[in-house]
Amino acid sequence: MRHLLDTTDLSLKEIDDMIALAGDIINNKEKYAHICDGKKLAVLFFEPSTRTRLSFEAAMMELSGNVIGFSEAASSSASKGESVEDTVMMVSCYADIIAMRHPLEGAPHVASFKSSVPIINAGDGGHSHPTQTLTDLLTIYREKNRFDNLTLGLCGDLKFGRTVHSLIKAMSRYNNVKFVLISPKELAVPDYIKSDILDKNGCEYIEAETMEEVMDSLDILYMTRIQRERFFSEDEYLKHKDAFILDLDKLKSAKPDLTIMHPLPRVNEIAREVDNDPRAKYFVQALNGKYIRMALIKTLLEWGGAL
Ligand code: CP
Repeated sequence: MRHLLDTTDLSLKEIDDMIALAGDIINNKEKYAHICDGKKLAVLFFEPSTRTRLSFEAAMMELSGNVIGFSEAASSSASKGESVEDTVMMVSCYADIIAMRHPLEGAPHVASFKSSVPIINAGDGGHSHPTQTLTDLLTIYREKNRFDNLTLGLCGDLKFGRTVHSLIKAMSRYNNVKFVLISPKELAVPDYIKSDILDKNGCEYIEAETMEEVMDSLDILYMTRIQRERFFSEDEYLKHKDAFILDLDKLKSAKPDLTIMHPLPRVNEIAREVDNDPRAKYFVQALNGKYIRMALIKTLLEWGGAL
């Protein structure tokens, strides 16, 4: 049995296989329509979510499986003081696979020690969001047909944005990926990401404080929201809240085949006028999230011998 706590739990070959499987699911939905007959997915969301939870639920339903779970800690016995360990020991009696989101970094890791079924990290604090990263990789592959030789711009809250940390970790494993890190100094990528991931893998990267100065160099622009819930004070959040707003004017110098991505939800950081630009792929990206989660559920259940 294997869990998915971080994308680095998967080899590059396993990621390739998962992306190929998602592509096959997209093209041959009927072939997969009953593979999870009688199986149950538990969604344990101790933190709010729209895309991740609902795409997990839709993914399991499209495989003909069932879904149980909760969407906030307040409606579970966590509100009475039950630990993550005990919660998971209970739920692994009721479900074949568990997707967990938790505000505490490492909570899904702790859960994995006690679980008798695969645990999927659906986002833990500011640490990691591996299924978003698989979603992002599927989107990059379908848009660019490669992972190597790309210039990837990441813009916004690069300090607290767990999707950014996970994506940098994943993309640094490919060849000749250049990273352009666009953020205010206070919200820059943490030093450990630079030293332990970018420097360690010999990745080229630059830091910028405006989109305009780097726009023409980018193959992909990955926008992110300022993570209000992770600031220590509202004043700090307000200082940065509209730091970056992508609009059509700023896209004038961009490549014609730029891919604009965003894990969503967006607040103000992409003007609605950009939605109709053919380079805007963030809603396609959200749809891809369902297909990669179908592929992930199938793969983990197979690895655990449940399929
Ligand atoms: N991208 C993402 O994780 O969205 P949700 O918070 O809505 O799940």
